[in-house]
Amino acid sequence: MTPMENEKKLDRRAFISKALFGLLGLLGLGFLIPALGVLTPARLRQRAITFVPLLPEEDLPRQGVRKAELVYRASDREIRTRVFLVVDHDDVTAFSAVCSHLGCLVNYHRKTKEFVCPCHGGKYDRNGVNIAGPPPAPLTRLPVKVEKGTVLVGVKV
Ligand code: FES
Repeated sequence: MTPMENEKKLDRRAFISKALFGLLGLLGLGFLIPALGVLTPARLRQRAITFVPLLPEEDLPRQGVRKAELVYRASDREIRTRVFLVVDHDDVTAFSAVCSHLGCLVNYHRKTKEFVCPCHGGKYDRNGVNIAGPPPAPLTRLPVKVEKGTVLVGVKV
């Protein structure tokens, strides 16, 4: 083998080696990109929160719990659901009324100061914490703010 033939053979080997590494790199990216989507924290993949007007600020009690119907649009359809506003002095907390067990709507009982689910008797305290019955988790807490005299609740649309 002449030195020229030997050099060409080396060039061919180098080319094949680089092509193989390039191919492996592309295959690696094919696995890596979906894996990054799975490994990204769930809170970064969540849909954006939109604040929806709920009721005038003047309709809030000074102290106590107020039921309200939340109406908004998501994916081109109207969503109607029940929320509760819990007011303690200047703090306002909003809870979805959807029971964490099987999705019935809970009611608030003023005497016991508990949210009670009519379906299977699940109970939550005033902070939305599940305290009795089958509900496996607290009521969902919704972002809430008061702006220009209107109470707004945050929903994912
Ligand atoms: S759906 Fe509420 S306790 Fe079962």
